[in-house]
Amino acid sequence: MIEIRTIRKNEGERFLTLLCQVFELDIVRARHVFFKEPMFDLGRKWALFEDGELRTILTTTPLEFGFGRAFGVAGVATDPKHQGRGLAQRMIEHVLEHGAANGEPGCVLFAHKETVYERCGFRTVDMVVRGPILASDLSETPDVVPFRTVQSSYNSWAAADPARLRRDERRWRYWRWIPRTCEAAIGGYLCVEPHLCREALVSPGLEKWPVMPGTSWLGLESMTKDLSVPLAACEKELFVMSHSMPGQIQMYMTDQF
Ligand SMILES: CC(C)(COP(=O)(O)OP(=O)(O)OC[C@H]1O[C@@H](n2cnc3c(N)ncnc32)[C@H](O)[C@@H]1OP(=O)(O)O)[C@@H](O)C(=O)NCCC(=O)NCCS
Repeated sequence: MIEIRTIRKNEGERFLTLLCQVFELDIVRARHVFFKEPMFDLGRKWALFEDGELRTILTTTPLEFGFGRAFGVAGVATDPKHQGRGLAQRMIEHVLEHGAANGEPGCVLFAHKETVYERCGFRTVDMVVRGPILASDLSETPDVVPFRTVQSSYNSWAAADPARLRRDERRWRYWRWIPRTCEAAIGGYLCVEPHLCREALVSPGLEKWPVMPGTSWLGLESMTKDLSVPLAACEKELFVMSHSMPGQIQMYMTDQF
């Protein structure tokens, strides 16, 4: 018998064990992040049980775009001994129906491969790209932009187009939970993490950005073009796929789920 539902508190460890097994994660480190991250919600940890045995899992994340509510799907994993039996497809279809019935009709995910998601009705709307940023000389240490300024700049940016992801209080808590600094640059800010930039509210057109040499960009291909991010090279990393969404979306990979 197949049962698909969100997990109970005492099933968190089984969920985490399967997640770590499939994605080859260190369970001690993963446990610390899993239960403590600000978006953690048992009501969004989905599991497919077969005769009481945990077979497939996934996690959803609430998303709010200007055009309406949606959710993200990540961490889809099936017990390796039971892959290829249609379990992930069955579970994704169930979760899509649940979202539609509960005010979250649209769905977004990032995928290395399209197969199972295409079968569930997803289509590829963009790509995630990565590449080294052409760095200008950093003669002076850039000013750090205070959080409140970042928050209001981002919120204005998000409000200006219905395709953009909005951040509520919880999403901002998640955003702050990951160590990152926003530096004043090019009429806005560059959000930098060690060797990585995933958010840039800047004017387009500059041939180099004031970042540490060796910093990479990770972003949606469409936004990378709009921002004319100065890249020395650019590789496609993930498919951005959506289901029941009006069209293109705009979000920074700082909000990756
Ligand atoms: C992806 C995965 C969850 C599919 O689970 P499943 O229960 O075997 O899925 P289904 O039986 O419904 O569908 C099987 C199809 O998924 C495809 N598939 C395998 N890996 C995939 C992936 N990473 N993304 C999309 N589709 C995938 C298979 O090719 C297969 O298609 P085929 O029959 O034409 O070969 C499972 O292969 C898995 O756990 N992989 C490792 C973890 C992973 O990469 N997860 C996705 C990234 S979040």
